[in-house]
Amino acid sequence: MKNNYLLPNYNKMPIEFVNGEDVYLYDTDGEKYLDFTSGIGVANLGYSQPDLVSALKNQAELLWHTPNLYQNSLQEKVAEKLIGNRDMLAFFCNSGTEANEAAIKLIRKHTGKNQIIAFEDSFHGRTFGSMSATGQSAIHDGFGSIVEGFVHVPFNDSQALKTAISEDTAAVFLELIQGEGGVIPADEAWLAEVVQLCHSHGLLLVVDEVQTGMGRTGNLYASDTYNIQPDIVTLAKGLGNGIPVGAMLAKSSLAASFGPGTHGSTFGGNRLALSAADKVVALIDTPELLGNVEELGKFSLNYLREGLKNCPNVVSIRGKGLMIGIELTEGIEPVLASLIAEKLLVLRAGQSVIRLLPPLVISKEDLKIGLEKIIDTLTKVREADEK
Ligand SMILES: Cc1ncc(COP(=O)(O)O)c(C=O)c1O
Repeated sequence: MKNNYLLPNYNKMPIEFVNGEDVYLYDTDGEKYLDFTSGIGVANLGYSQPDLVSALKNQAELLWHTPNLYQNSLQEKVAEKLIGNRDMLAFFCNSGTEANEAAIKLIRKHTGKNQIIAFEDSFHGRTFGSMSATGQSAIHDGFGSIVEGFVHVPFNDSQALKTAISEDTAAVFLELIQGEGGVIPADEAWLAEVVQLCHSHGLLLVVDEVQTGMGRTGNLYASDTYNIQPDIVTLAKGLGNGIPVGAMLAKSSLAASFGPGTHGSTFGGNRLALSAADKVVALIDTPELLGNVEELGKFSLNYLREGLKNCPNVVSIRGKGLMIGIELTEGIEPVLASLIAEKLLVLRAGQSVIRLLPPLVISKEDLKIGLEKIIDTLTKVREADEK
């Protein structure tokens, strides 16, 4: 399969999926794959979810788009659901990187300060501001000068953070579980210090929940899982279950800095996108679904730890809810190739981490099928290494 008309910025596998049902994807030959990726944390409710399909169909027949020159009660409705009883307000956009761009602009406008402390190995997106917030030089390389003012310090390191804070620091910008960086959860004691430092230095605490949000860790937001109240939260991925939509939630006290004309987006929060988001939030934000994610997450960690306890090539198994990383010593390529051959889709993160983001609606039976495939594959790789 060769792409003749596409720029080569993606490393695409020679598989094309043409339909999906629940947690399974089907390729052009009708081969069935179990999906432990959710399209990189997007299809949290799986594929062809009937309520989502009909919400989108109904809206498609009514009205797709009106600009943000006019009222849009769907925006109010979705914002209310996302905010719950938090003292926050919402801005809608179309992607994770845009939600983070909005956050960066709001931070600077509100504080009048330039410096934002972000973390090594973080990932916040590909546009200039979000790319500059990203703590991976490989993402910056070749693109000239990045946006000034970002300082990157090691994640989970209090001393480094304290040392980086200056008079010009406006905010601390972080993922609670670094996703692309290798499924690295924030340490709870460290996070408590981060919150304390933000409080004592008057810094905004900004949490990028583009990957951890929308039920992934067993609560609507990972900030609930960690029991913190950020000043700004950014969302995308799972918010539309595949329809492009992002959001920034910001404390009401920041609202005056985002007055008319400060920021905007042509498509942001359009009716088609928000008809999906409205249904997504209603389906995800229920005690049943979120409780199940928490339980399935614990089950998965235990199952993998037990099944892989004799695998010296496994360094650590970690995560929260259905965001799980299996770090290997080395040799991740053959493992990923075997899993594809076994018709299981997983993701890679960092250098050598297998990242699992199964749809949140997965049954325990399907989950076990996938986990067994992973245990079998890693066991076979170990046995082959021993020969
Ligand atoms: C934590 C985080 N922030 C931001 C982004 C960028 O999102 P998008 O690709 O929708 O721009 C991603 C994408 O992987 C992400 O994982």
